[in-house]
Amino acid sequence: MSAVTGTVATMLSRRVPNDQAVNDPGISPMFGSRVMGSAIPRYDLPDGELAARAAYQLIHDEMTLDGTPLLNLATFVTTWMEPEADKLQMETASKNFIDQEEYPITTVMERRCVSIIAGMYHAPSTGEQAVGTSTIGSSEAIHLGGMAMKRNWRKRREAAGQDGTKPNLVMSSAVHVTWEKFCRYFEVECRQVPLAASRYVIDPEQAAALCDENTIGVVGILGTTYTGHFDPIEALDTVIGALNERTGWQIPIHVDAASGGFVAPFTYPDLKWDFRLDNVHSINVSGHKYGLVYPGIGWAIWRTADDLPEELIFHDNYLGNDQSTFDLNFSKGAGGVVGQYYNLIRLGRAGYTAIMDNLFGTYDYLHSLVDSDNIQTVSEPGGLPLLCVHLRDETRFNSHDIADRLRQHGWIVPAYTMPAAIEDMSVLRVVIREGFSRDLASKLVDDVAAESARLRAEPPKHPAPHRPSKQRVC
Ligand SMILES: Cc1ncc(COP(=O)(O)O)c(C=O)c1O
Repeated sequence: MSAVTGTVATMLSRRVPNDQAVNDPGISPMFGSRVMGSAIPRYDLPDGELAARAAYQLIHDEMTLDGTPLLNLATFVTTWMEPEADKLQMETASKNFIDQEEYPITTVMERRCVSIIAGMYHAPSTGEQAVGTSTIGSSEAIHLGGMAMKRNWRKRREAAGQDGTKPNLVMSSAVHVTWEKFCRYFEVECRQVPLAASRYVIDPEQAAALCDENTIGVVGILGTTYTGHFDPIEALDTVIGALNERTGWQIPIHVDAASGGFVAPFTYPDLKWDFRLDNVHSINVSGHKYGLVYPGIGWAIWRTADDLPEELIFHDNYLGNDQSTFDLNFSKGAGGVVGQYYNLIRLGRAGYTAIMDNLFGTYDYLHSLVDSDNIQTVSEPGGLPLLCVHLRDETRFNSHDIADRLRQHGWIVPAYTMPAAIEDMSVLRVVIREGFSRDLASKLVDDVAAESARLRAEPPKHPAPHRPSKQRVC
């Protein structure tokens, strides 16, 4: 044995005291260190430090207990982006979007995105005149849209010497919870048109009947969270336009296009739901849904500058030059804006259309396989690429049982109850997103078939236990 080999052997056989090894990532084997053999405090700040690689390993390992994003068919939010987009967003991670003076190019990219999206929605003002802002997601955009409608309504009331203290907002009961949140936080009465047994969208006539001189706006949904149906926004526009003409109320329509705002322009280009309709004054869309960007980006777009009250825009200069902002928070990462800009210029109309075509191809495939008498397809062509089904007979097993069984295979498919007035109906929903290939879809089909057969072979559950959904629909 040479002298050198002998030294190495001695070093390897020497027992390194755990206390000494714990913070020496260069020496200690990862799972030989004290930190891996003891519990770390979870809810208190630890007294000492951890080696970076040990801290990484602990967190990385614990996160493997989360669901797998690719198999999360509950969410509309993007789980896959191209490696170039990943790289750009990593390069942007250290930039605070609000520092417009320091990162002017990021701000310019935001303005370009606003203009491109306003153009997609046929806004009369694009380019530098486009009116809109990036947000954290549709929720923030909805709050901004709601605030603008409320302020515009109050200004009109006060200018006419009328009471401006009892605002209300009209929507269907299928709205996302964010609208109810907006109404509660900003003290606006929430008036809802209930759904009906075979109507999963707003009834325009009923919406108009709920309006009065205190209505700040009417919400149309381009793709409900529950079933993916598009509200009949053109019909809503006709009815609200006629109401405004008759009464002089000037009620605007806000379209919540959280999901549909990046589907309709490519899949249904002739569908009129946007600024082509006279009464649509504002639109929100989630860049992180079918805009195909990772979570943390949304957009609020107004028809013209007149729709966004100047007093809601803040100007400050303590980071340098004059900055104008309309948002609910201050600092935020710039990665969402950069990721969105990447997708817009990388994909263009052709790229988004090709991706949507594939998603609807997968939708058609799944839809064609729903052939059991017991399954009613709730989602319909003409909406979002998602499959929503209802089990007619839930005495043997119910949709929650299927969701539970699929979870054992890694699939996350939510089962939940519908909103007022059809809350007794529960459904299962599969959102078809970029990354969910046809190949993977066929695996899901196999697993559903196998689990349904197993459930059918088990003794019936008489009556099926009622399990109200705790799953948040998002
Ligand atoms: C119709 C609708 N509006 C608003 C939201 C909230 O959007 P975000 O998650 O982008 O805040 C969602 C989320 O699914 C939605 O489906």
